[in-house]
Amino acid sequence: MFISFEGTEGVGKSTLIRKLHAHFLNLNHDVVLTREPGGTPLAEKIRSMLLAVDNDESMSADTELLLMYAARSQHLNQVILPALSANKIVLTDRFCDASFAYQVKGRGLDQNKLELLNQNFVTRLPDITFWLDAPIEMGMARARERGALDRFEQEKMEFFNKVRAGYQYLYEQYPQRIIRLDATQNEEQVFQQALRALNQTD
Ligand code: TMP
Repeated sequence: MFISFEGTEGVGKSTLIRKLHAHFLNLNHDVVLTREPGGTPLAEKIRSMLLAVDNDESMSADTELLLMYAARSQHLNQVILPALSANKIVLTDRFCDASFAYQVKGRGLDQNKLELLNQNFVTRLPDITFWLDAPIEMGMARARERGALDRFEQEKMEFFNKVRAGYQYLYEQYPQRIIRLDATQNEEQVFQQALRALNQTD
């Protein structure tokens, strides 16, 4: 089973992933916990470039998209696909939907560019995607509490509202795969929502 977790900043993805990871381990499943951009040593280096606020030049939206896919290709082939072949459960903090929400809807890139990359480099989609949804103000307050903001977190509210609308659009397009979780609830309630959804898809 391949599960991805999506949402705007500070909606509680990491907490939910940690809880589900522990849950699957308790059930004696083999689980791989990973993230994007990142998940392999090389992809983590690409992540550092993507999140750095002190780049000497500003990063174009095209470069951002291509770096996301360079990292994704590495991650998919080195980590995700081998784990799925070995019958492990893969939990990834973000996958392709983030590129649609952030690079296409947020940055305004042509969707054809993304589709070209998906068609050529993404050979496997998640079975289930949990979209943790909460108002942007709420998530940003949590992100600020965590400390220094990365290059994405420094974006304006307007950007994140577009990203959130991007996830809403995907949710409507792929109701079978994408499950919306009400991330305004507390950690335990969000976890229970996810467990209920997983039981329904068994
Ligand atoms: P994180 O905050 O979940 O660790 O993710 C790092 C940032 O990367 C986050 O602000 C969203 C952004 N991102 C994209 O813009 N496009 C993508 O395809 C992915 C995977 C992440």
